Amino acid sequence: MEIKAATGDIASSKTDAIIIIHHEGAKKPEGVAADIDEKLGGAISNLTKQKDIKGKLNEITLLHSMGKLTAGKVVVLGLGKKQELTTNKIRGAIAEACRYLRGKCVIRIASVILGDGINNIKTDDAIQAMAEGAALGLYTFRRYMTKKENDFGEIKELTIFGKGKKAIEQAIAKGKIIAEAANYARDMVNEPGNYMTPTQMANAARQLAKKYELKIQVFDKDKIKELGMGGLLGVSRGSQQPPKFIVLSYKGRQSSEIDLGLVGKGITFDSGGISIKPSEHMADMKGDMAGAAAMLATLYAVAQLKPAINVTAFVPATENLPSGTALKPGDIISAMNGKTIEVLNTDAEGRLILADALSYAVKTGAKAIIDAATLTGACQIALGKITFGTFTNNQALLDKIITAANEAGEPAWQLPMFDEYKEFIKSDVADIKNIGNRYGGAITAAKFLEEFVGKTPWVHIDFTGDTDKDKGYLVKGATGVPVRTLVNFVLAQAKK
Ligand code: BES
Ligand code: MN
Ligand code: ZN
Repeated sequence: MEIKAATGDIASSKTDAIIIIHHEGAKKPEGVAADIDEKLGGAISNLTKQKDIKGKLNEITLLHSMGKLTAGKVVVLGLGKKQELTTNKIRGAIAEACRYLRGKCVIRIASVILGDGINNIKTDDAIQAMAEGAALGLYTFRRYMTKKENDFGEIKELTIFGKGKKAIEQAIAKGKIIAEAANYARDMVNEPGNYMTPTQMANAARQLAKKYELKIQVFDKDKIKELGMGGLLGVSRGSQQPPKFIVLSYKGRQSSEIDLGLVGKGITFDSGGISIKPSEHMADMKGDMAGAAAMLATLYAVAQLKPAINVTAFVPATENLPSGTALKPGDIISAMNGKTIEVLNTDAEGRLILADALSYAVKTGAKAIIDAATLTGACQIALGKITFGTFTNNQALLDKIITAANEAGEPAWQLPMFDEYKEFIKSDVADIKNIGNRYGGAITAAKFLEEFVGKTPWVHIDFTGDTDKDKGYLVKGATGVPVRTLVNFVLAQAKK
């Protein structure tokens, strides 16, 4: 979809549909809506009077212009109470309106700026949120459907009407890059495990590197062995697919230092291994590489936005499958930093590959590290699928991530890292074991990871990569979380 800027009068827009707004509590159409109302002979004010239009958030009312406007359709989009409007509500509302119009076979849409200047929202931020919301909300994953795209309907164009074409275009460009990055992660996560193998993930990273002039290294099994990555090697032992360790670097300033290391869990399919999972939701585990996808996607956006900061992504990628050569409960392995791990459950595999990736990131001297992993079911039990869990050894760093998450509208919540939890991962036979007891599973997993970051400021994100239904700018399937949070964070870090 193309997102364009236009100045002038939306009433003469040559698109198939126009979107105008109504706020809850407003007695009659205001601003552009008042002008359109007049052209439609008072149709909108009639509806507001009758309370058929209330202006509730995401309320959609479709009117036909009956030849009174160039556009055949007019959507009056509710934005809720003015004093409660946020950029995240703008994202959701434009997404709902665009999806609705796609269902009506509309191809080209024009819209006013949603919430321009309302509740102190800056015009640029409102426009960026619109570009993000539209691109995220219209996302589809139809790669494996043989039915042609036209049968589903497709919005080809969204034109945003406002003042100052250049400024609108800039805000659109930023929003579009960030949303496309999230959609890039969604694509990777939605790909089935037979396509998104560790080798394929490495190829995708190579393509990114080529397109955006990033530096890339892909370590194969021999190199992984040579580096002493016993966790990644151990988890990969049950699979026919060779493991990969991907290092993708963006250089935004003159220095060889890595300002930020991004570590992402890249389990391209998690069966649980010998500690095999029940079959019911096992298919969801094709998305167990959502952390890896998020980190590659973050670099995809950063490489285009070009902030003055050096960022490197570290991605350990493998399948977790049972076989005669697979890791067994009771096995002891040795991570890259030399720590020995007793593997009591082969389904707690994410922390094993992250142990090596974190050790490696620390060894490169990365000044701060963020990891993202679909690490524990326990985190979902604690917070639901909506909010991602965060953990840290450095409060100041986490506070910045939370600020970035709030800006992105991606709900985040901090969980504790009290040292009392460490006793649950003490092993009788090795330095540490890979599971705790029944309780606080997300926290014991985070305490496990902490063993591999040393003193480097670090934030761990435990999340789910998917959602069950279309809502606002999220669509059923992969969410692309926490890409927008991470991009915001990187941009904010580079500003200083
Ligand atoms: N990838 C899973 C965690 C997961 C499950 C994420 C469902 C999203 C949805 C992880 O590898 C896992 O299996 N964790 C186990 C750990 C346990 C064995 C200590 C879990 O959470 O059950
Ligand atoms: Mn697992
Ligand atoms: Zn897993």
